[in-house]
Amino acid sequence: MSGKPVCIADFEEYAKNFLPKYVYDYYRSGADDQETLADNVAAFSRWKLYPRVLRDVSVMDLSTSVLGQRVTMPVCVAATAMQRMAHPHGETATARACQAMGTGMMLSSWATSSIEEVAEAAPAGLHWLQLYVYKDRQVTESLVRRAERAGYRGIFVTVDTPYLGRRLADVRNKFQLPPHLRLKNFSSSELAFSAGKDFGENSGLAVYVAEAIDATVNWEDINWLRGLTSLPIVLKGILRADDAKEAVKIGVNGILVSNHGARQLDGVPATIDVLPEIVEAVEGKVEVFLDGGVRKGTDVLKALALGAKAVFIGRPILWGLAYQGEEGAKEVLQMLKEEFRLAMALTGCWRVEEIGRTLIRRHQVLFSKI
Ligand SMILES: Cc1cc2nc3c(=O)[nH]c(=O)nc-3n(C[C@H](O)[C@H](O)[C@H](O)COP(=O)(O)O)c2cc1C
Repeated sequence: MSGKPVCIADFEEYAKNFLPKYVYDYYRSGADDQETLADNVAAFSRWKLYPRVLRDVSVMDLSTSVLGQRVTMPVCVAATAMQRMAHPHGETATARACQAMGTGMMLSSWATSSIEEVAEAAPAGLHWLQLYVYKDRQVTESLVRRAERAGYRGIFVTVDTPYLGRRLADVRNKFQLPPHLRLKNFSSSELAFSAGKDFGENSGLAVYVAEAIDATVNWEDINWLRGLTSLPIVLKGILRADDAKEAVKIGVNGILVSNHGARQLDGVPATIDVLPEIVEAVEGKVEVFLDGGVRKGTDVLKALALGAKAVFIGRPILWGLAYQGEEGAKEVLQMLKEEFRLAMALTGCWRVEEIGRTLIRRHQVLFSKI
């Protein structure tokens, strides 16, 4: 890349050259053969836009709400673990970038900055906590309580990770955190995934998950969480209409259609392809969000046209952090915002409420590249 990044792919190219290989591998990888990883991005191209014309788009309003909170655009930041491997300020830089841009950030349970550090770094920011259900329910509960005390506005429970997906590069690299970092939400060195432990011939994180995260997790646990907190609860990682209906029945406030950035089960569909059936299944009773492969303003528009309330981005923020910390993360958000503004204008929508199902159709793929 010469000169300033002009698209999200440029940020990734910079990060690829700049980051240590094992870090870039960890951030980039999908599970197994990475079929879904490629498809998350490619699937957006199968959906075509049908713009409306002559609709005065001289004044635009990109704002919307997520779980009752105003955001300046329907693009928020998904939980990605261990952001201090990308930049020394890690999650606190992301939080400041989100605050500056007026959008929300989902903090990973496995962050290298604590729940409280992130709240302090961006006191006027909109924060949600991504929650893994630990075998030790007291640990799980204490994460929720800390998020409540620190003013977080919701809990995104990740439901697609009873075990970690097999990310081959991480297995080969025997992935661990570098020695100067740890998962800051935990006090014991075991739960903090501190360096130096022998994880054998495997990804250290896969071993960590098998030891600490509860594979018994089931709908009863969601019930338990529902009773534990009055914060909005979103299930992150739903790909089926029947699961979506069950989630609504149990009283969650939202569904994040996600395949974990293709890092869990390979061979699942691209999220944009399953979004319509999930939207249909929940019948408008809860908000539906999407993440996975969102790289362009037109991707955001397509997801909204298919019924998402907002989208979340994972890897692009990591590439922005690697590029220039807080400024880089802000540039990524700014770029997507400008691209989305243009996509809205060119489809004849002056505000997000105008974006609807008539704007989009799925095309059959007649030829594919070999
Ligand atoms: C490096 C990395 C770390 C992630 N860490 C978490 C995590 O700690 N918890 C979680 O629920 N999802 C995690 N995810 C998944 C993201 O929240 C999100 O679903 C995904 O990145 C969206 O896809 P995208 O990267 O194509 O935008 C991670 C994804 C990446 C790439």
